[in-house]
Amino acid sequence: MGAQAQACAFIVLKTFLSFFTGNLQFVYGEISNFTVQTETKSTKNNKMGNSKEAYHIPVLLNESVDGLSLRPEGIYVDVTYGGGGHSREILRRLGGQGRLYGFDQDADAEANCPEDSRFVFVRANFRYLRNFMHLYKVLGKVDGLLADLGVSSHHFDDKERGFSFRFDGKLDMRMNTRSPRTAADIINNYSEEALAKVFYLYGELKQSRVLAHALVQARQAKPVSTSSDLSALLAPFIGREKENKFMAQVFQALRIEVNDEMGALRALLSQTTEVLKPGGRLVVITYHSLEDRLVKNFLRDGNFEGKTEQDFYGNKQVPFRLVNNRVIRPSTEEMERNPRSRSAKLRMAERV
Ligand SMILES: C[S@@+](CC[C@H](N)C(=O)[O-])C[C@H]1O[C@@H](n2cnc3c(N)ncnc32)[C@H](O)[C@@H]1O
Repeated sequence: MGAQAQACAFIVLKTFLSFFTGNLQFVYGEISNFTVQTETKSTKNNKMGNSKEAYHIPVLLNESVDGLSLRPEGIYVDVTYGGGGHSREILRRLGGQGRLYGFDQDADAEANCPEDSRFVFVRANFRYLRNFMHLYKVLGKVDGLLADLGVSSHHFDDKERGFSFRFDGKLDMRMNTRSPRTAADIINNYSEEALAKVFYLYGELKQSRVLAHALVQARQAKPVSTSSDLSALLAPFIGREKENKFMAQVFQALRIEVNDEMGALRALLSQTTEVLKPGGRLVVITYHSLEDRLVKNFLRDGNFEGKTEQDFYGNKQVPFRLVNNRVIRPSTEEMERNPRSRSAKLRMAERV
């Protein structure tokens, strides 16, 4: 069968399957030692996340908030506010004088904010954490910071946002809709080499060069602008992997690049040493191995390469003390209740 015929067969099969799976829950989870952020379809009419329940189910809620070791009058930051599940739990445990700053770069998250005088919403990328903490005069005074990385269920479920290959829509994938670069811009303007790098580094796709070449060839005839255009073009390369896993890797790679997720995470982690006070807690939930490796190295060694630095006398120089030596994973019960939690890993440390 020729590539075009295969692509057509793929679309017909996809439409047929999506008709039957319309109300089912499905998960794209672990891929060897590489994980993709889990995409689930949990609620039938869960399209725009217009109820708080539908927006996002918080992952490792008690374990992560316990990890902050909250002081009722303390100052806390949730750098990934989303549906506000973690923030609401933090506020529930805070006293009247406590304070919480919630960051999110997505305007949609703001609609989930509580009316609470102890809470301040910051609609910004968390890469500007230090500047905002300086502005609010709490630099070096923060008792705990929580980061629940990646995107929310709302992003996957809102077909207008283009994060999901389950829907046909524009290839957007921006968490911050004011930022200039969409997934379509990347696909249509990056060089073949740069595209291959994105697929290889952020999707760990074995055929990254072949995929990049196919896209560059196709866009010469017509720009690739929708998720069905992309799926149809890549369908001939799915090979023996399952279609969902393959497409999850492709979409994840593009999403990480669109939002410069690794750059933002590096910037955030580097600033935590200045933002947290001694004894302050850093609690991070990751969803794929690339971000988890950065967090693990940074919490253990204070750098992203995992190099141990020592002083003149051979004492280890580290900005954090690990609170849990072993990574914390969701319980079987949580994974069953919320399949999106399956790839989550929780790490925490204390500022020395
Ligand atoms: C996994 S969700 C957090 C869910 C949240 N903990 C809850 O319980 O509802 C991640 C959120 O962080 C936001 N986000 C991701 N990267 C960001 C960044 N660099 N700056 C600001 N917000 C970011 C996303 O827009 C998304 O709403």
